[in-house]
Formats: sequence, C-alpha cells, structure tokens
Amino acid sequence: MKNTLIAEVKNLSKTYSQAGTSIEVLKGLEFKINAGETIAILGQSGSGKSTFLSLLAGLDRPTQGTVLLKGQNIFDLNEKELAQFRAQNLGIIFQQFHLISYLTALENVSLPLEIAGISNAEKKATQALQDVGLDHRLYHLPQQLSGGEKQRVAIARAFVVQPKLLLADEPSGSLDPKTGREVLETLFQQVQLSQMALILVTHNAGLAQKCHRQLRLKDGRLT
Ligand SMILES: Nc1ncnc2c1ncn2[C@@H]1O[C@H](COP(=O)(O)OP(=O)(O)O)[C@@H](O)[C@H]1O
Ligand SMILES: [Mg+2]
Repeated sequence: MKNTLIAEVKNLSKTYSQAGTSIEVLKGLEFKINAGETIAILGQSGSGKSTFLSLLAGLDRPTQGTVLLKGQNIFDLNEKELAQFRAQNLGIIFQQFHLISYLTALENVSLPLEIAGISNAEKKATQALQDVGLDHRLYHLPQQLSGGEKQRVAIARAFVVQPKLLLADEPSGSLDPKTGREVLETLFQQVQLSQMALILVTHNAGLAQKCHRQLRLKDGRLT
C-alpha cells in the first residue's frame, strides 16, 4: 500500500466574490497524500484551511483546478454521485460537529452506511459508537450530549464506513483542553487501527507533530 496516492490536488484556486469585492483564498495550490499518511495543515485564521478541506470533500466547488480522490475527479460527478462517493470514501470531522439535530447518535452514525448502500447499518453503527466509548448514548439526540460526546459521535460517523481518507477541521477547536485531548486521542487511535490517511487542520503545533508531515497554508499555497 505504501506510496499509493489517495488524493491529489492540482492547480486548485478559490475566489470568493461578495458585495463587489473578491478574495482570492487559494491560488493554484498543489497537494498529494498517500494511503496511510497523516498530514497536519497549519495556518493563520482566515488563511483558507476550511476552504481547502471543503473543496477536498467536494462540499464546495473551486474557481479552478481539480481534486482527484482515488483517481476520480470529484467535480466530474453529479450531486447524487458525489454524495455517494463521499459516503463511501471520505470521513469528515468538523469543529462544530455538524450532527443532524433530529437524529439520535445511532441514526447519525448509520446514515453514511445507508447512503453508501452498506448492509447491517445499525449493527455497524452500534459497534462504531462502542469503539469511541459511547455505547451508553445510542439513543440520545445531539442536544442531549456534551461537546466531547458530540465529537465522539462525529468521529464514529467518520470512521464507520472505513474510508481511506479522513478530513478533520480543528476537531478539538470547540472543546475544553482536557476533553479536546481525550477526543484527539480517540481520533489518533482510530486512525492508527484503520491505517487511514488523515488531513488534520489544527492551530496546535504540538498536535501537528503527531502527524507524519506538517504543511503551512500561506498566501493561498501549501508549503
Ligand atoms: N462562503 C464565503 N464567502 C465569502 N468569503 C468566505 C467564505 N468562506 C470563507 N471566506 C473567506 O475566505 C477566507 C478563508 O476562510 P477559511 O477557509 O474559513 O479560513 P480558515 O479556515 O483558515 O480560518 C477568509 O477571509 C474568509 O472570510
Ligand atoms: Mg477554519
């Protein structure tokens, strides 16, 4: 598996236009990540880290350039194909959890399995929640969970389809330091167990050192 390219970004640019002004956030960015590799992305607030991850996940479209995941240019897919491709191949963890408020923990984690057309969704989702220490919270709604618990549900949701690539955008950014450390420990444990590639956006240089490589986003490019 070593040196198998899992994601490749070519000449990626993103300009936001709003109220007559435009902001060029990404400027011909180039990036590659191999299977099983972990990469930390550092950069000041507003440097475009979240924009970059959204484009990698196909949650937003670039002004120019391509994102190849397992050789597929994700922007060639239609909405439905993209949703399915994402569910099958990507785990995404956001700073603000982004759980679906009216679904229980178990239903939130089952959802990507159902979208990906994987059988035994409930059983697999239950196991994933067990793996992150939440087997006693299966039927709770997000609003009934603490911040740390919500992020554990999000981690279970990201891992449950066993994707080859995990994207995490400041996953401990909304948590107190102790809870944040515990959640990150769970995250790295799961990454190691499953041998998946990880792109971790973080402000924390110490945390970045846990990854194989550290890159910095500055002036629209990664160095
Ligand atoms: N939807 C949007 N519309 C207009 N500007 C945006 C939008 N999203 C982000 N931006 C701007 O793009 C820049 C990069 O934002 P972001 O990717 O969120 O940075 P980071 O995650 O590194 O803090 C910021 O200047 C931000 O204000
Ligand atoms: Mg951000």
